[in-house]
Amino acid sequence: MSVSFAPRFSAQLVPRVALVTGAATRLGRAIALALAQAGWDVAIHYRNSQAQASETQQDCQDINAAGRFHTFQADLSDADDCRQLAAHVGAHFGSWGAVINSASVFEHDTATSVNANSASNHWQTNTVAPVLLTQALYAHAQQHGTCAVAVNMLDQKLWNLNPDFFSYTLSKSALETATTLLAQALAPIMRVVGVAPGLTLTSHMLSDEQFQALHKLSPLGQSSTPEDVVATVLFALNNASITGTTLLVDGGQHLMKFERDFSLMT
Ligand SMILES: NC(=O)c1ccc[n+]([C@@H]2O[C@H](COP(=O)([O-])OP(=O)(O)OC[C@H]3O[C@@H](n4cnc5c(N)ncnc54)[C@H](OP(=O)(O)O)[C@@H]3O)[C@@H](O)[C@H]2O)c1
Repeated sequence: MSVSFAPRFSAQLVPRVALVTGAATRLGRAIALALAQAGWDVAIHYRNSQAQASETQQDCQDINAAGRFHTFQADLSDADDCRQLAAHVGAHFGSWGAVINSASVFEHDTATSVNANSASNHWQTNTVAPVLLTQALYAHAQQHGTCAVAVNMLDQKLWNLNPDFFSYTLSKSALETATTLLAQALAPIMRVVGVAPGLTLTSHMLSDEQFQALHKLSPLGQSSTPEDVVATVLFALNNASITGTTLLVDGGQHLMKFERDFSLMT
């Protein structure tokens, strides 16, 4: 009698090679370093920040001398660049098992100033690129008989809406929906998980004092730290039972009502 096993996600079948987009600086860099620490090989993506990407690569190498770390340049607002990025990562490492979609445009516009250019730039970079990279990773996993994980960086403000940063919010809202749709469509080969930080790092629109005050503005008395966000990304990567949902890591900021975006709360 032949026994047929239902296909299932297997953590053992995930190659420990991760592409981190926007890994030259800030949260993307912190995620890349944490992955290196956890024994993953890392494809360090950047657009303009070449020197900082090389620094991330060197720092990953210092953390794990035996690990493989390489930088890749791509403009994620360009669909061809997205496809080439995925192909180059596959060609360089042989196999890969995770993408952390962290690169993001965050430019201010409003319901009255939004135009086709700002909407399109946010849509292509923040929504389409993560979907195309996830699609490419899924095709790679199918070809190689492996499993894979995508982590999409979202934002607590999706659960706590205000109309500032109109295009950014729309693009991340679509990415949150894509997280559900992709998880449904790509199981059991692939898991797709959202991670939604609160205010974690400052923006060019805030002074240090303003940032420190706003960071305290949460039910827990502090919003997320980079360490909290990184730990949540690693948890999403490692927990074989999580898909199609978003982990909010924000000190509970999504439970509060803010009339304006943090960057505009002076
Ligand atoms: N920081 C926070 O407090 C916070 C809060 C909530 C959510 N998040 C989310 O967490 C993620 C990381 O946040 P972050 O503050 O570290 O991000 P960030 O500094 O705003 O952006 C990260 C990187 O995105 C890259 N990027 C922008 N446009 C690109 C394009 N067209 N093609 C390729 N790369 C592009 C840039 O790379 P180059 O410098 O190489 O050009 C940039 O360094 C984002 O998805 C963000 O929405 C962050």
